[in-house]
Amino acid sequence: MKVLLTGANGQLGHCFKNIFPKDWELFATDRKVLDITDNLAVEDYISTYKPDCIVNTAAFTAVDKAEDDYNLAYQVNVVASENLAIVAKKCNAKLVHISTDYVFDGTKNYPYEENDKTNPINVYGETKRKGELAILANNSSAIIIRTSWVFSEYGNNFVKTMLKLASENTKLSVVDDQIGNPTYAGDIAKVVIKLLKKNADGGIYHYCGDKSISWFLFAKEIFDVALKQKLLLQVPDVYPINSISFPTKAKRPLYSVMSMEKLKKYDLSGSNWREQLISCISKIKSI
Ligand SMILES: NC(=O)c1ccc[n+]([C@@H]2O[C@H](COP(=O)([O-])OP(=O)(O)OC[C@H]3O[C@@H](n4cnc5c(N)ncnc54)[C@H](OP(=O)(O)O)[C@@H]3O)[C@@H](O)[C@H]2O)c1
Repeated sequence: MKVLLTGANGQLGHCFKNIFPKDWELFATDRKVLDITDNLAVEDYISTYKPDCIVNTAAFTAVDKAEDDYNLAYQVNVVASENLAIVAKKCNAKLVHISTDYVFDGTKNYPYEENDKTNPINVYGETKRKGELAILANNSSAIIIRTSWVFSEYGNNFVKTMLKLASENTKLSVVDDQIGNPTYAGDIAKVVIKLLKKNADGGIYHYCGDKSISWFLFAKEIFDVALKQKLLLQVPDVYPINSISFPTKAKRPLYSVMSMEKLKKYDLSGSNWREQLISCISKIKSI
């Protein structure tokens, strides 16, 4: 199987490369090799290398920055995603695209299902939702995986931010009224590969961590693990605050827990993020 990976330098891109099956052929592209907003370059690349599948992990992911740069977020998350869907269909390649829990407004109080009404409350979520719709309209075999609160040893994420803040501060306040499911990027990569192996049906699937938690409690778990592994020698005092006391440019949904019932059809269950947090922190320590 020949696979084109976009966004190879991102968290998910790195993890995907790490576990890529040895008997498959990978064309891993970062933004320098293939800017997905360059429609002609994308079409040229795909018609030259003729991949059997395209895994699009590239995205405009800076949630607050997106509020100030709607145009670029739209180009990457909507226009480029639509173009990938069109070219994939034309070249008979299966497209796997990644989306987000931020397509929801967070007003529910039990897990979101794939068909629940979307209502993004920030530009990032709005452009990711428009990207989903553009893909679905142009390529019915495309798989869209919505995931949430992604962490890994690579790039920027909450785990690494908390570890950095903990090394610089003795007191920290962390938001306690946003609830979601942390997800290890390596587990998303495994799910992508499993769905490709099983030639899964097109459509939207939810995949995230197996347990929900608030950012505040997640931070405390991160510090406990880092202390046990001696990555931190002491941890700051952590205080819970609500979102109103921690204003950010982009609003965040208060509740973005997703149901993974639909994926059970493919014998898949959620990311055991507590176990993965231990191994992720040990990898961060060794780096
Ligand atoms: N991170 C999360 O918490 C989270 C939560 C839910 C869903 N997701 C979704 O999961 C997917 C993977 O996220 P991630 O955490 O791996 O993101 P990430 O670490 O920010 O990686 C995204 C990658 O996309 C690349 N990229 C941006 N614009 C590009 C372009 N025009 N052409 C080619 N590459 C481009 C970036 O390149 P540069 O390195 O050059 O900037 C970056 O390497 C995304 O679709 C994201 O929306 C993420």
